[in-house]
Amino acid sequence: MHRRSFFQGLQALTKKHGIYLIGDEVQTGFGATGRFWGHEHWELPAAPDIVTFSKKAQTAGYFFSDAMLRPDKAYQQFNTWVGDTARVIISNAVIDEILSKNLVEHTARVGDIFYEGLAACSSSISEAKSRAHTLPLTLRMPAPC
Ligand SMILES: Cc1ncc(COP(=O)(O)O)c(C=O)c1O
Repeated sequence: MHRRSFFQGLQALTKKHGIYLIGDEVQTGFGATGRFWGHEHWELPAAPDIVTFSKKAQTAGYFFSDAMLRPDKAYQQFNTWVGDTARVIISNAVIDEILSKNLVEHTARVGDIFYEGLAACSSSISEAKSRAHTLPLTLRMPAPC
């Protein structure tokens, strides 16, 4: 099953059963996959109910679709950035840089070039899957002596 139809089916199931669908975009958010959010590759009818972010965002948190998911205390963050609230300002600057310099489109172009290069030397690559997220690779290499 293709990744896209898997996640579309998963979202349909979660909606049917009243379960929140969480997109953990700590690694994939902020343009890392050639879209601003990795879940955009799935072409869902609606965004996941919760989308988490951190790392490249230089701050951390989550978006939510249901007001019930709003944290009951403001400015509380437990994550890589240890609750440093000033990072929200930094994150805004990161977003401005990404958007003003078209870095998401750039990442998509570089990703395509990288993937094509990998595919061209595929004899040494035993597994190269899923351009929709990160690219997991298993390389066959001579064992160290
Ligand atoms: C995929 C993923 N989710 C969540 C986390 C946790 O990140 P944080 O502690 O910044 O919320 C990590 C950290 O490496 C991660 O890689």
